[in-house]
Amino acid sequence: MKIILVVGARPNFMKVGPVYFALRDSEYFQPYLVHTGQHYDKKLSQVFFDHLGFPEPDRYLGVGSGTHAEQTAKVMVEFEKVLFSEKPELVMVAGDVNSTIACALDAVKLHIPVAHLEAGLRSFDSDMPEEINRILTDSISEILLTPSPDGDDNLTKEGIDSRKIFFVGNAMIDSLKKHEIEAENSNVLEKFALEKKNFGLITLHRPSNVDNKENFLKIINAFDHIQKQLPLVFPIHPRTLNRIDEFSLKSRFDNMQNFKLIEPQGYFDFLKMEKYAKIVLTDSGGIQEETTVLDVPCLTIRENTERPITITQGTNKLVGTDTEKIILETEKILNGENSVGKTPEFWDGKTAERVVKVFKDYLT
Ligand code: UD1
Ligand code: UDP
Repeated sequence: MKIILVVGARPNFMKVGPVYFALRDSEYFQPYLVHTGQHYDKKLSQVFFDHLGFPEPDRYLGVGSGTHAEQTAKVMVEFEKVLFSEKPELVMVAGDVNSTIACALDAVKLHIPVAHLEAGLRSFDSDMPEEINRILTDSISEILLTPSPDGDDNLTKEGIDSRKIFFVGNAMIDSLKKHEIEAENSNVLEKFALEKKNFGLITLHRPSNVDNKENFLKIINAFDHIQKQLPLVFPIHPRTLNRIDEFSLKSRFDNMQNFKLIEPQGYFDFLKMEKYAKIVLTDSGGIQEETTVLDVPCLTIRENTERPITITQGTNKLVGTDTEKIILETEKILNGENSVGKTPEFWDGKTAERVVKVFKDYLT
């Protein structure tokens, strides 16, 4: 049975990889990998194919960047052609990026069932493009694969039939566990002269933080203050780099003595930095989860999160964009006031196995 697996943007690779390999190893399924090309820079795409051990995608759609409508529409036009030629039994999409909703919508209109990996997450913030993608994808999916019980609750409250909901756990953590040794062997700390547990790791790419100059400046002011006490390293997302140019903020970063602005990192190097950071400051979804499993304190530079379990059980705390609040919460962690994390149920490296079982029960 042919199952199309869709990847498009950086966080998709770590989630879909484990399911791809588990399907390939099963006697029932033939996974067919489609890369939409939403992310195309080597450091946002190819490096993850290499690190996760993916083969070349069966189809590369090459859609690239654009406005939301342009990007979503281009994916839809190109992916529909794949569905016509490949006639899969099932399409699996992951996460909440534009490629996710575009491919799900194509499939459902052709009466091909859709499975959504990482279903049910809600930030309840419709200003986030991802929230629209999540709600719409869940509403048209036949198989809703949730990473945590809050996902099941959200879907149930939205009236989704409980027979479609499957709590399988977190596939991104399958990748983290599988690649722990390669990450440990990375020399990235030496490369950037970082001392274990004596640096802060930053990532930032949410439009609400970096496309809005006022918010971006408030966050940069906090970094400027923190780097005087703790070296900071910031692998920068291309969206954010573009805004630094557009808002002429490069000199603000150049003037920080204890601050390293570096390119996006490969998976192993990034995991190593995450594990050995004293603190992670981020607005990423996946990084809130990874820090919970790695038991590294995480401050999320957002007002809300679609991953509340990383707060209730993990090491995460929401700090918003207020300069003083970010500084205060960072100082608490530097003074040893961290919450102790507990790994959520089914974030155990076996999510892909559970997904394959769900697919087998559904299709056979
Ligand atoms: C996308 C996802 C976001 C996810 C993030 C992961 C949507 C709506 N957003 O955001 O949920 O958290 O990926 O990283 O799907 N660019 C490059 N090279 C690339 C890709 C992008 O330079 O390989 C630049 C382009 O200028 C582009 C901008 O980054 O316009 C934004 O890319 P896009 O894919 O639209 O959204 P992200 O911000 O990456
Ligand atoms: N990541 C990486 N290199 C980086 C930044 C992030 O390998 O320079 C990995 C990180 O470990 C996690 C994923 O990318 O597995 C998170 O993706 P991102 O933050 O782009 O997206 P989000 O999770 O916010 O949608």
